[in-house]
Amino acid sequence: MEAEAVRLETEPPYDVSTLDGDPSGLPLVVRPAGEPSLNRLCGWLEANAAWVQAHIARHGAILFRGFAVDSAEDFERLARAIDDDLKNEYLGTSPRDALTKYVFSASELPPVYPIPQHCEMSFVKDPPRRLFFSCLLEPQPGGGETPLVDYRKVWRDMDPVVRQRFVDGGIRIVRNYAGPAGGSKLDLWKLKRWDEMFLTTDKDAVEAKCRAQGFEPIWTENDGLRIVSTQPVFRDHPLTGERVWHNHTATFHLSAAPGEYQRIHALRPTLKNFALLQFARAMVALQRATRGSDEQSMHCTYVDGTEIPDADMEHVRDVTWRHLVVNPWRLGDVVAIDNHSVAHGRLPYVGPRRIAVCWA
Ligand SMILES: [Fe+2]
Repeated sequence: MEAEAVRLETEPPYDVSTLDGDPSGLPLVVRPAGEPSLNRLCGWLEANAAWVQAHIARHGAILFRGFAVDSAEDFERLARAIDDDLKNEYLGTSPRDALTKYVFSASELPPVYPIPQHCEMSFVKDPPRRLFFSCLLEPQPGGGETPLVDYRKVWRDMDPVVRQRFVDGGIRIVRNYAGPAGGSKLDLWKLKRWDEMFLTTDKDAVEAKCRAQGFEPIWTENDGLRIVSTQPVFRDHPLTGERVWHNHTATFHLSAAPGEYQRIHALRPTLKNFALLQFARAMVALQRATRGSDEQSMHCTYVDGTEIPDADMEHVRDVTWRHLVVNPWRLGDVVAIDNHSVAHGRLPYVGPRRIAVCWA
């Protein structure tokens, strides 16, 4: 009787499934069984925090589909029902707009840019534990998805020799930010300005924020800021102890753009994607020929400055794409991601699209 009572208490009054039928698949999908009330869903989630935590840890993400999520405020409400400790300091690279004090547009990077897989802010001392996305405006079919990848599987399935080279070499990241006056428009992966990233023009404050994260700030000509940092190759999941590929190499390495477009073209073989692939190859060749490692907008090497072989980065992308879960957005979707184990990215798109983000 007792076990039955516990089961009844924790069993959600919703339709629960996975996209591919795999009982531990990514993501778990929760749909209303009757009325799509957001209030009732939030109440249930708050009262059943243990169910939520266990299922996010197991599946890596939970997708709430079909509930009455109509605005950034609704989205924040649902996110808070899962984790009330939302944060709003963002030390990442995407330009973002604030929709509420804690909800932002996911990325204002131009639609044609793919965003490679990464765990949010994996390069800061204490990355977010939860990441939430919501679809406030559905993109046209065939683009604009936010693919997810279980980075536990990426760690597990990598060639151990390649993986060991990363572990032995470590990762050094360099990012170059333009100053308040702006910078070159020729960068393929142009970052925000440093005053936008740190929300101040006070250089002492910027240096203090960098040091708090273990970043080395270097002021460069034309009021630019170079940030050099190291980060772990992997992290062990704080709840389950599983080892996770947990780094930003796929995003920061110079080979990222052509590497991503090559796979996007294989997924969606259009003339436009072919042209973008050729353009990205040419741009990266030009960047490599005209600038050193430390002068690139974003790049990463081993800690001693030695270049990571392109072939090793290709291997990372191969394993990552093998596990890529591409699920088209539906209006009102909210996905809660375990940022300790699951990475996200963005596929290029055309037309309007509004995806919001918040994190805890
Ligand atoms: Fe992100």
